[in-house]
Amino acid sequence: MKKILITGALGQIGSELLVKLREVYGTDHVVATDIRKNDSEIALSGPFEILDVTDSKRMFEIAKNHQVDTIIHLAALLSATAEAKPLLAWNLNMGGLVNALEVARELSCQFFTPSSIGAFGPTTPKENTPQETIQRPTTMYGVNKVAGELLCDYYFHKFGVDTRGIRFPGLISYVTPPGGGTTDYAVEIYYEAVKRGKYTSYIEKGTFMDMMYMPDALKAIITLMEANAAQIKHRNAFNVTAMSVAPEMIASEIRKHIPEFEIEYHVDPARQAIAESWPNSIDPSAAREEWGFAAEYNLQTMTSDMLEKLSKKYSPSTMAK
Ligand SMILES: NC(=O)c1ccc[n+]([C@@H]2O[C@H](COP(=O)([O-])OP(=O)(O)OC[C@H]3O[C@@H](n4cnc5c(N)ncnc54)[C@H](O)[C@@H]3O)[C@@H](O)[C@H]2O)c1
Repeated sequence: MKKILITGALGQIGSELLVKLREVYGTDHVVATDIRKNDSEIALSGPFEILDVTDSKRMFEIAKNHQVDTIIHLAALLSATAEAKPLLAWNLNMGGLVNALEVARELSCQFFTPSSIGAFGPTTPKENTPQETIQRPTTMYGVNKVAGELLCDYYFHKFGVDTRGIRFPGLISYVTPPGGGTTDYAVEIYYEAVKRGKYTSYIEKGTFMDMMYMPDALKAIITLMEANAAQIKHRNAFNVTAMSVAPEMIASEIRKHIPEFEIEYHVDPARQAIAESWPNSIDPSAAREEWGFAAEYNLQTMTSDMLEKLSKKYSPSTMAK
């Protein structure tokens, strides 16, 4: 049975992954860490340690004290924030990663960290982007992700660390709001549809990006981590996706449930430029062939579920509690 340490556990992915991992491996087998603590169930429902991932000594001590054999490294600055604070992004995204890889090497841990569609750039083929292709991103986040993929490969080849990674598209979820990415609009649109019946998109109509619903992302992480090492060729990192969508497509799907829903556009040039440097759709066939990746949710089923869950979250009876 794995004993897992998660960094950045209170973020959009971590807050849901933690719950799922505790269901699968047991509460005491999953040690949550983050630079902050809040009073959420996650922070209170099992082992939790405050950890700044740039503090290598403390990371090592926590991992050793809890005798972990697996590290899931999530703490990072996301694309839009990283572009606004590039030096901070470099220090956190690369410094945190190398610290986590060093702990994995010293304690012989299995290792997972997410890459992103941000690891591609304007010279990458835009449609059905292959697993192996040109990666010359023009954002600091993208530079970090490509360097991170290479560093994880390096730790595998040089030191035998069992590193595995996934290039996630924009992840859509209703538990924890996203933390400053370019695809955040695709989450906000559902919240605003439920709360106000209208949304102003900072991404231009007709801009396609890949997306995936959080339950599929969690399943993908666990499936890849459990896959037999002999099956895996690419390691860092696998393309995965569930849908390629533009803002107006999400809006028209929402209108099937909320007919009066309105969308307007007030484009943010900074995030639009990042979106335009990314692929329109990526090819997940290597993940499918090597470890059986399959997304369950499409735009229709995800929209129904998001609206149902958010309506419950923001219904007057729930809000009054
Ligand atoms: N959410 C997405 O759509 C998406 C898509 C592709 C890749 N990813 C990647 O997945 C990973 C997790 O993303 P997320 O969406 O959960 O991010 P998030 O911004 O929601 O959460 C990041 C967490 O890291 C914590 N953190 C920040 N600085 C820290 C530090 N110095 N030490 C320790 N913790 C710190 C924050 O408190 C936060 O809880 C990142 O590597 C991100 O690039 C996310």
